[in-house]
Amino acid sequence: MKNTELLIIGSGLAGLVAAWTAAEKGKKVTIINKSNSLMSGSTPWAQGGIIFEGENDNPQKLKEDIINAGDGACWIPAVDQLVRYGPKLVKELLIDTFKVDFDYSDGHLDFTEEGAHSVRRIIHSKDTTGKAIAQAIVPAVENNKNITIFNNHTAIDLLTLSHHSTNPLDLYEKPACFGAFILNNKTNEVFPIYANNTFLATGGLGQVYINTTNPDESTGDGFAMAYRAGARLLNMHYIQFHPTTVYSPHGRFLISESVRGEGAFLIDKHGNRFMEKYHPQLELAPRDIVARSIYDVMLETNHPCVYLDIRHKDSEWLQNRFPSINAFLQSVGIDMSSESIPVVPAAHYACGGVGVSLKGRTSLQRLYAIGEVSCTGVHGANRLASTSLLEALTWGWVAANEVCENKEDDNYFPEIYEWKDETEEIDNALIAQDWLNIKHTMWNYVGLVRTKARLHRAQQIFRHLSTEIEDFYRKAKMTKEIIQLRNGVTTAYAITNFAIEDRTSRGCHYIKK
Ligand code: SIN
Repeated sequence: MKNTELLIIGSGLAGLVAAWTAAEKGKKVTIINKSNSLMSGSTPWAQGGIIFEGENDNPQKLKEDIINAGDGACWIPAVDQLVRYGPKLVKELLIDTFKVDFDYSDGHLDFTEEGAHSVRRIIHSKDTTGKAIAQAIVPAVENNKNITIFNNHTAIDLLTLSHHSTNPLDLYEKPACFGAFILNNKTNEVFPIYANNTFLATGGLGQVYINTTNPDESTGDGFAMAYRAGARLLNMHYIQFHPTTVYSPHGRFLISESVRGEGAFLIDKHGNRFMEKYHPQLELAPRDIVARSIYDVMLETNHPCVYLDIRHKDSEWLQNRFPSINAFLQSVGIDMSSESIPVVPAAHYACGGVGVSLKGRTSLQRLYAIGEVSCTGVHGANRLASTSLLEALTWGWVAANEVCENKEDDNYFPEIYEWKDETEEIDNALIAQDWLNIKHTMWNYVGLVRTKARLHRAQQIFRHLSTEIEDFYRKAKMTKEIIQLRNGVTTAYAITNFAIEDRTSRGCHYIKK
């Protein structure tokens, strides 16, 4: 039996900041990470940047931009918290404490622009901002004596009074979480970790779609664990599709919105700009609108992609400003300084998730959610570009402070039912086919454009598939792959059910009549 004061599941920006903040205040923290190093998950993939305070900028302007992008569904107190604390934490933590390698020009932080921002306020480290942030924080976390890191370990389920206590009277207590069952990926051993408080910081769910900008880890784990534990999910159907990923047989690769922020145009197969037909902010309209306009043009022109054109910029400038995008394009034979880039939308970000308070508390006692897995209400129905790292930073910090100051009773650890190991070896062909089924169903029926009939078809598929997978899981020798598959189908099913329940098109949720 292992014990910790704070168990953090996941190691993106939210998890890292929370771990470091709580550990600096003396808490014993344990991080569970299913990959083999803390440089994993979505954070190191983030290209564009993080919001700071631009010239002629103020919190009110940022608030208005977030609310406009969110299409009437943002929770205002959460937006207020973000605009009040976010830029301050960027300065105090990222710039002054961790000394992230942001770009400067003429001695000042270099600001870039992205869709639906009214001023240039996004700071960046070329086109690999998330990597620069993670590289700056990971050593501080690894070297902190109060933090224990379990790489190559996968959380299976949260421990709750309602599901795991052997004491029948615990059912009458407020529902609470007191840790998690964890798999050692290498030895297949399963063991419980008891925790006074548990943070879900597991990131996103893009892997439930066939086309996504997300890394392999984004299999929806935290959403599914929270759902099984009985925590409240919110806005799961607001899945943001990034408008521009490279259309290539080598897979989708994100072309940051900052490429449009620096002047790239969207054109159709005939070379015509088309955004003026859809929105006055043209290529820098809110993401949901740009992504759907592209979908529309692809249908209208009967062509599998549209194109992003930044040929009017100098080749050396492009290479210096967007080195990683440029390198990827070169590797697939595209020269962005002389050719337009074929692009299509792909699943990018979950605007909804595990519902949390301003302090990051979920509807279960002693369980918090931070980062993409959470729904703070900031993003409403459509997230404003470059708010995700800011939200992760803010809620990671706020929630860590909350547990450090928390005077509530979080010391009850009941006897639990023992974990029972099963032995059936997993047939990888079944796992691969089930994933394809999930990914194609989500892409075709619960994608950028939805219809009632498509959603009902998806619901039927997931009803059946989730039963199959649960049977399979119950008999299986535990592995990371089977855990992820079980989480993937649960998350896909939840998104579909939310989409069916909400008949109003808003933001990322668009129902074609
Ligand atoms: C991008 O660089 O376009 C992604 C930024 C974001 O998702 O906020």
